[in-house]
Order: sequence, then C-alpha cells, then structure tokens
Amino acid sequence: MTQTILVTGGCGYIGSHTVVELLQADHKVVILDNLCNSSAKVIERIKAIVQIKDQTHAEGNTLANDDSLTFIEGDIRDEALLKQIFITHPITSVIHFAGLKAVGESVSKPLEYYNNNVYGTLCLCQAMNKANVKTIVFSSSATVYGEDAPVPYNEAMPMGNTSNPYGTSKAMVEKMLADQCTADPQWRVAQLRYFNPIGAHKSGLIGEDPKGIPNNLLPYISQVAIGKRKELSVFGGDYPTPDGTGIRDYIHVVDLAKGHLKALNHIQQPSEKKKGEKGQGEHIWNLGTGQGYSVLEVIRAFEQASGKNIPYQIKPRRNGDLAAFWADANKAKAELNWVAAYTLNNMVSDSWRWQSNNPNGYS
Ligand code: NAD
Ligand code: UD1
Repeated sequence: MTQTILVTGGCGYIGSHTVVELLQADHKVVILDNLCNSSAKVIERIKAIVQIKDQTHAEGNTLANDDSLTFIEGDIRDEALLKQIFITHPITSVIHFAGLKAVGESVSKPLEYYNNNVYGTLCLCQAMNKANVKTIVFSSSATVYGEDAPVPYNEAMPMGNTSNPYGTSKAMVEKMLADQCTADPQWRVAQLRYFNPIGAHKSGLIGEDPKGIPNNLLPYISQVAIGKRKELSVFGGDYPTPDGTGIRDYIHVVDLAKGHLKALNHIQQPSEKKKGEKGQGEHIWNLGTGQGYSVLEVIRAFEQASGKNIPYQIKPRRNGDLAAFWADANKAKAELNWVAAYTLNNMVSDSWRWQSNNPNGYS
C-alpha cells in the first residue's frame, strides 16, 4: 500500500539510496534535509534513477509522479517547520537519517553533536507525537556496542562504553526511543545498527560525496584511485588479525537501504489480538553481512575492480579504532527475511563507478 514517508537527511549518502528504494516500492517521500553535508543536486539524480527503472521495465509500474518526491530544505530542530510538514503531508512514518557523523569532529565539537543528533531527534519525536505519527526507523550504528564487546556483535548484548560523542549520541537516542516505547505502546521503533556502508547505486548517479579529506576507508581509496590523493595511510599493521590490518563488516549501501523497507514493513504489522501487536514497541536489528574483511583485502578488491594501483603505507594505529568487528546478522534474517546480497567485489566496483563518473562528487 502506498504510504507517505518522511525521510530526514534524505539527501545524504544512505538516505538518498533509501529514497530510491522507497520510490521504486511505490511510496511517496517527503525529504527534510538542511544540506549541511549534502547537495540538492541529489534530488534530480534520484528522479533520473526512478525514471530509468521505469523505462527498462516498460511493462512495470506507473512512473513515479511528480508529487511522489517532495524536497524541503530545512532543519529537524525547526519545530514550526516540522509541525507544518505533518499538517501538509499525510505522513504515516519517519525514516530518520539526519545527523552529524564524523567521529573525530564529534570529539572536538561535542555540543554540536549532541545538539544536532540528540536534541534534533527529540524535536522530531515531539513533533511526531503531536501529529500522532508514532512509527520511526532510526539510523543507529554498530558503535553502540562499545569498545569491549566480543565479536560478532549481536542485538542481545547490552550497549557498551562508547568512546566518542558521536557514538554516545547514538546510544542516547536509542535509549530515548526505547523509553518512549515503554511509555506509549503505540510507538513502533526500529533501531538499525549499521556496520560499514560502502558502494553506490549501480547507475553511478548517486554515491558517497564526503566534504574535505575523507575519514573513511572507501572514499579515501577512491580518491587515491582517481589521483586526487597520493597514497592511502593504512592505520595499523600490527593488529591481532591474519594480515595485521583492521577488519570490518562492509555492507553495500543498497542492501542497507533495502533493510530499511523490510524494517519499516515489520514494525507496521497490524495487531494480533491478545498477543499484542507484532510490530509494536522497540526492535533492534544489525544491518551487516556477518563477514569481515581486512583493509588490505579491501585494497586488493578495489585494485582488481578498478584496474588502478592503490599505493599505501602502513602507519600507526588511528586513535579509537578497534582491531576487528562484524555483525551477527541472524536476527535480521530471521525476523525481516533480509540478508545482504552484494559481495565485496560488487561494493568496490560500484564505489569505483560512482567515483570515476563523478570525480568531484555532486559539485
Ligand atoms: P550523510 O551526512 O551523508 O547524511 C546525513 C544527512 O542529514 C545529510 O544530507 C545532512 O545534510 C542531513 N542533516 C544533518 N543534520 C541535519 C539537521 N539538523 N536537519 C536536517 N538535515 C540534517 O550521512 P550518511 O552516511 O548518509 O548517514 C546517515 C545516518 O546514518 C546518520 O545518522 C549517521 O550517523 C548514520 N550512520 C552512518 C554510518 C556510515 O558509515 N555512513 C554508519 C552508522 C550510522
Ligand atoms: C568509522 C567510525 C564509526 C562510524 C563508521 C562509519 C571511527 C573510529 N569510527 O568506523 O564510528 O560508524 O566510521 O562512518 O572513526 N582505515 C585506514 N585508512 C584510512 C581510513 C580507514 O586504514 O584512511 C581503516 C581503519 O583503521 C579501519 C577501516 O579502515 O580499520 C575502516 O575505517 P572507516 O571506514 O573509517 O570505518 P570505521 O573506523 O570502522
């Protein structure tokens, strides 16, 4: 059934890929984004992708109508704007991506991070409550498992000690949403704990476009490959891993995006009388592949996919990095019937297509 979904941060990396999946599933989308870390150009790209799909599947569904995607430039902390959005659009649920995400910056600007990520989510939830919209999918992170959790991480583990304000802001929002579910049984919350999203839409039209020097591995490798940066620094070659470099659970951003639709469907399941409502209350799901790869394995895969040499040097460990972590992905498989379909080779090929077609991102 077609619904109207408010997507905060829908112009960003993960948000834009999720909006494509929502439109292709015939939903209507209202994006609220203040563009602090994205470009409005993504809107035209999203429309182009949805159009491409419709042309290649001529027998397929109706073309996305012009009113199927609305973009509102604004801030989740603007209470009057939120009120207006809920009055104007028949929104039934919210997917909440808006937030700041640079770990290092969060250490130097903690107040900005708590303001945007925690206070911003509070404003959003208060506006939802007033509008009687009580279904939300929240972008959390594997970082909430903390520094000492054994791998693989599973959802039954308690949240751990987060080592930076970014991670703490995610843990605080999770707790706030859980408390709201306890207080008001009408709330339906999916806390999605992402592992390491990489890759891009196969069209090469949308992808990750970091501002300045990339902090994360894939954008950095991509920029070395197109000649923007001289070489990659591999942070740590002496970890207790088979090749000494850090291991992470990389997940294709399109798999991640599809996970949001599955999660939303699950929490919207109607009531089963007496047993309580299946989708009601708080749900936590890891979105990862369950498989870890080392930094050197990612470099090799990228070199193979792009045909480019990636020069690198092993450097000291980066402050706050963990040696290795990956997801126990069984809960999402069992409850959502969701598994990541794309391989590491798919992920790096798609990252390279995006980067080589758009050497300067959206600018
Ligand atoms: P992104 O920066 O590309 O997207 C976030 C979007 O939110 C941007 O378009 C930005 O302009 C917007 N935004 C930020 N603050 C806002 C505000 N106050 N009001 C309105 N819009 C605002 O980041 P992303 O990688 O797409 O991440 C999306 C979400 O997923 C974030 O909450 C992030 O913390 C979380 N997450 C990301 C990763 C990752 O590796 N990318 C991992 C775990 C969790
Ligand atoms: C980082 C954040 C994490 C956040 C995630 C996704 C830190 C400490 N953690 O995770 O909270 O949720 O991004 O945004 O910043 N690497 C290099 N050279 C580089 C960049 C990275 O060797 O130039 C290595 C890292 O040491 C790590 C791996 O590559 O082993 C992945 O790094 P990255 O992409 O930054 O993700 P995380 O550190 O896992």
